[in-house]
Formats: sequence, C-alpha cells, structure tokens
Amino acid sequence: MTNYDVIVIGSGPGGYVSAIRCAQLGLKTAIVEGRDTLGGTCLNVGCIPSKALLHASHSYHEATHNFDKMGLIINNPKIDFDKMQNYKNDVISQNTKGIEFLLKKNKIDWLKGWAKIVNKNQVTVGENTHDTKNIIIASGSEPSTIPNVKIDENRIVSSTGALSLSKIPKSMIVIGAGVIGLEMGSIYSRLGTDVTVIEYMDHITPGMDLEISKNFQRTLKKQGLKFIMGAAVKSAKSTKTKANVIYKKADAEIKIDAEIVLVSTGRKPFTNGLNFLEIGGELTERGQIKTNNKWQTSVEGIYAIGDAIAGPMLAHKAEDEGMAVAEVIAGKHGHVNYDVIPGVIYTTPEVANVGKTEEELKDAGIDYKVGKFSFMGNGRAKAVFQGEGFVKLLADATTDRILGCHLIGPAAGDLIHEICVAMEFGASAQDIAMTCHAHPTFSEAMREAALACGDGAIHA
Ligand code: NAI
Repeated sequence: MTNYDVIVIGSGPGGYVSAIRCAQLGLKTAIVEGRDTLGGTCLNVGCIPSKALLHASHSYHEATHNFDKMGLIINNPKIDFDKMQNYKNDVISQNTKGIEFLLKKNKIDWLKGWAKIVNKNQVTVGENTHDTKNIIIASGSEPSTIPNVKIDENRIVSSTGALSLSKIPKSMIVIGAGVIGLEMGSIYSRLGTDVTVIEYMDHITPGMDLEISKNFQRTLKKQGLKFIMGAAVKSAKSTKTKANVIYKKADAEIKIDAEIVLVSTGRKPFTNGLNFLEIGGELTERGQIKTNNKWQTSVEGIYAIGDAIAGPMLAHKAEDEGMAVAEVIAGKHGHVNYDVIPGVIYTTPEVANVGKTEEELKDAGIDYKVGKFSFMGNGRAKAVFQGEGFVKLLADATTDRILGCHLIGPAAGDLIHEICVAMEFGASAQDIAMTCHAHPTFSEAMREAALACGDGAIHA
C-alpha cells in the first residue's frame, strides 16, 4: 500500500487543482472520487454543462432575433433538444477526460470510491485503507431545498435535473432569483419555455450592487422572464402532469402551477459519509467545516477548502484555496485574497462584480466616487447588438484607489479581470484611465468608466 503525503477527498475544481499543486510541490498525492468521472459538480452538473446550454440557447436566440438584421437568412431555425443534450454531454466528457489526463501527467493516483476518514492518517475507500500524512477535504456542496418542497429530479428539479430534462417544458417556475435560477431560467426562456421566477426579496441576486441588480432584472424582464417578488414559496407538490406551487405574498396565499419547478434556493456543504464529526471534526452553525486561516480544520493534519467551508460557493474560490493549502502543507506561504474574488453570472448580457458594492461602502462610511459608462457608447458593443448595460467603477474619493467594480454587458465575465489585477496591485482609477485600451473592444468601456472617475468619459 502506498504511503501518501496527501490524500485529497473530492475531485472538483478545489480538489483536483489542489492535488496538482501538491504533486508539483513534490508531494506524493492521491485523490478520492466516487463519481464515475472527475471534475465534481462544476464539470459534471454545474458550471460547464450550464455554459454549453447557455451557449446553445444564446445561439438560437441570435439566429431567431439578430441573423436577419445582418442579412443572414436562415429560414425557421428549429431545436433538436436531444442533439443539444448530446452536445452538452460531449462538452462534459471532453472536460472530465482532460482532468483524468492531468492527474496521470502529474502522477496522482485516483482512488475510485467514496472516502471515509478513519483518523488523521488513514482514509478508507471501499475495502482499502490508505495511509497519509495529510488529508484535504474538498467534498463540495449539494443543492439544498426549503420546507415542504421535495426535489424528485423529475418534476421538481435542482440544477442537476434542470440540466438534463428530457424535453423543453412549456412552463417552468423557478424558486429563488439567485445565480442558478437566473442562468437556468434564461436557458429555458430562450428555448421557448414560459418562465416565472419567485423571489423572497424585493430584488434579484441578493448581495449584488443594487443598481446593477435592478438593471439586470429589467433586462431579463424584457427578454421574457416573469418575476414575482417579495414572495415566499411555502410548498411545491408534483402531480402526474405538472407541479403546484403555493407562495405567500402580502398575507395572501397564491397557488400557481407549471410543468417543471426548479428549486434554486442555495446549496449546502456535502460532508455525508466522511466520518469527520466522529473523529472530532467541528462544523460551523451553518454546517460548514470549521477551518482557521490556513484551511486547517479542528483535527490536526486535516484541511478543508471550497464549498465545504465558509465563503462564496464559487469554483475559482475553491481553486485558489486548493493551491494555497498545498503551499501550506509543503511548508510554503499559501495565501488567498478574499477581497478580490470576482463573481460572474453567465446570462446575456453577462453580469460581473469584484470588491465592494455601493451599499457596502455607504454602510462602512467610506467616502467614494462613482465612474459609470454605458455600453451604448461603445462602438463594438453596438455592432454586435450588445449595447445594453453599463460599467460602474467605485474608487476612494480621496486616494482614487479602486474599491469595487460592477458591470452588466458583453463579456463582462472577462472584462472584470482587468479590475481584479488592478485591485491586487492597489491601482487607482487613473491607472486604468491612463492605460491604452485597443479599439474597438468592449474593454474600452472599462477605461471610460475609469475616466468618468476623473475629468470625464470621452464617449458619454
Ligand atoms: P443563491 O443563494 O444564489 O440564491 C437563492 C435565492 O433564493 C435567494 O435570492 C433567496 O432570497 C431565494 N429564496 C430562498 N428561499 C426562498 C423561498 N422560500 N421563496 C422564494 N425565494 C427564496 O442560490 P443558488 O442560485 O441556488 O446558487 C447556489 C450557489 O451556487 C451560490 O452560492 C452560487 O454562487 C453558486 N453558483 C454560482 C454560479 C456562478 O458563479 N456563475 C453558477 C451557479 C451556482
């Protein structure tokens, strides 16, 4: 039996990235994964498959709404949903096989099965017990639901079921206007489903900069999504042909139904079967594995990262922690800057953010200035029917240092990284404003927002 330096539990973006970094740092590493394929939620039933369906449904929208305007005459585009699912599955397979290749290349053993921690130096997988010096728990998260709503992955589905429906539903109720609800709702709305989103709060995507959130909701409404706001879902029940949902709004209980109900009310850490509590591990009140600032759990030699611990449930946050914890185990200095973790919603237009929102700056009593620029003033965006949306840059009123950036518009998920790098270097809005940006690119809107923090944008 191999004696490992590190056994990583879970092969999602947190786990596999951590394993690769461990191997690169000279540690003998194994990864435990019970699914048939590597990559965890992200590659199998999350980020990657949803991006394939977002791309396919956006392309259909382009063909039906914008092709004709450009002189591209394609009569009556149709959807073959089975073929679309095959395309999505092929994308998943290419990516999961890619991870398998990377593990082999880095000489990381894949222990197939579900891990049970025996003690801080032993992990069993199936019949076998493996010895190790360190354990990294990267077991991820699973969909959570609300009282009286049971996910059956048939009529009442989580994101997992929504990614693999057997046909395009005529109607869909989405419970929760968070990231999953809006991405999945967008996909099916573009494919012709009548989508109604029910949200407890009075605005969508709670926690997002409010101005962006309101603008985003208006855009989605224009695209055909319906919203019932300030409404708490009380129950959902499946029948043979549909699902009934009861929600409460301003003291009234209202019943509606749809062919499919998507439950997107959040996710919870997945720690089942790990035996972590039994060996003395501690959880937070919210069920996350408790860690210190070096990702060390309450059991010495056992570390935890990603969705299983506190913080935003984002693949890239897990990846950063995965690399950092490997450095810590190898005796180096692992660090994650939690103040500069971008968030992206992959609808069209995309929505992206990093740093503080305007509301957070107000609450903290920080004196700030705002530089805004609309994509209507960006030639490239208008040329590709994406003039909707704007960039909002927040900078310190005295020092001009960038404090946050929020945008809705074309390629927002890529554009945000210019600001991430700037923030890592403690840059000012003027630094961005004085940097030459190629024309014609969407990125010019970022520079214009930075100029707007100073003497003014040029194309406003
Ligand atoms: P979420 O936490 O983003 O949103 C849940 C929403 O449900 C909230 O707006 C909440 O107010 C609402 N809600 C809760 N109970 C309700 C009720 N009874 N009635 C009506 N509304 C109710 O959760 P979501 O969208 O399920 O996402 C889970 C996690 O996955 C998030 O942490 C998200 O960041 C992550 N994720 C990130 C993606 C990305 O970065 N593009 C994509 C998909 C997921």
